[in-house]
Amino acid sequence: MAASGEPGRRWPAVVVVGSCMTDLVSLTSRLPKTGETIHGHKFFIGFGGKGANQCVQAARLGAKTSMVCKVGKDSFGNDYIENLKQNGISTEFTYQTQDAATGTASIIVDDEGQNIIVIVAGANLFLNTEDLRKAASVISRAKVMICQLEITPATSLEALTMARSNGVRTLFNPAPAAADLDPQFYALSDVFCCNESEAEILTGLTVGSAAEAGQAASVLLERGCPVAIITLGAGGCVVLSQKEPVPKHIPTERVKAVDTTGAGDSFVGALAFYLAYYPDMPLEEMLRRANCIAAVSVQAAGTQSSYPHKKDLPLTLF
Ligand SMILES: Nc1ncnc2c1ncn2[C@@H]1O[C@H](COP(=O)(O)OP(=O)(O)OP(=O)(O)O)[C@@H](O)[C@H]1O
Ligand SMILES: *[C@@H]1O[C@H](CO)[C@@H](O)[C@H](O)[C@H]1NC(C)=O
Repeated sequence: MAASGEPGRRWPAVVVVGSCMTDLVSLTSRLPKTGETIHGHKFFIGFGGKGANQCVQAARLGAKTSMVCKVGKDSFGNDYIENLKQNGISTEFTYQTQDAATGTASIIVDDEGQNIIVIVAGANLFLNTEDLRKAASVISRAKVMICQLEITPATSLEALTMARSNGVRTLFNPAPAAADLDPQFYALSDVFCCNESEAEILTGLTVGSAAEAGQAASVLLERGCPVAIITLGAGGCVVLSQKEPVPKHIPTERVKAVDTTGAGDSFVGALAFYLAYYPDMPLEEMLRRANCIAAVSVQAAGTQSSYPHKKDLPLTLF
């Protein structure tokens, strides 16, 4: 058998324990008022959910991946599983339940790009610790496990605990953020990665610049994670670690953004890929490369549809 860490290893190197959501998107000239019915000019269905998005990006870079999640026993669930398979992701622990529908995000976007969104997490909230126990073999043999907050927090905490106790690196993305995040999340995260508004919610500080992000990152670090990363949109990201306790700003190249939806998930998925396959690479270099990959994703429309494949990226990123 190949040594762990080498390409071709038998077990998934990146395991995501998280969400799948079907995006139901209607484009309209303006948003409807309460009680009003209006006609839109376009409708499409997309694959989303932060967990699956991050998994798809890691897989497209060449990571061997497994998606531990729950969808409904319905057509959206069947289609989602097919989407994961088409991305080369293992669905061995992608469960289907009769108890709830596949998670959905119903989205209305007007001509100005303003939107209203209703998320029904549905089956995502039924992923439980029993499901994790069945997936223990893949979780415990991963290089990196990623969690977010679109499933039941207790399930995420259990997944992080399982990974930690098996020496698997944990990458935690506290999205969507809540001010009262359980302090255990910090203690169980090897890498804690959020965006500006999440950093504000978690710390109560204003985060509008790289300098302010550095201050927020130090608050996050004090809560127990060894590495805190705050993404800054077109500004790249800021990283602070217990090893290098001076905040470092890693800017990104200037590109023409077409659609930034899902950029944060592209970034997190790319970071997981580098952590798993290039464990000796300096963290700053991983982040520079994750910035490059997320910058590609903002130059095309859609969420997963905008995520680049290895074959379309410069060889210097690998
Ligand atoms: N306009 C941009 N130009 C270049 N890179 C970008 C741009 N927007 C985002 N990125 C890249 O994507 C990363 C994540 O972006 P951002 O901080 O906006 O995350 P997010 O808010 O979670 O994304 P989302 O739009 O999905 O909510 C950034 O760190 C950067 O690398
Ligand atoms: C951060 O991510 C959340 C999703 O968790 C999103 O709603 C919010 O708009 C993002 N903030 C920024 C500044 O991009």
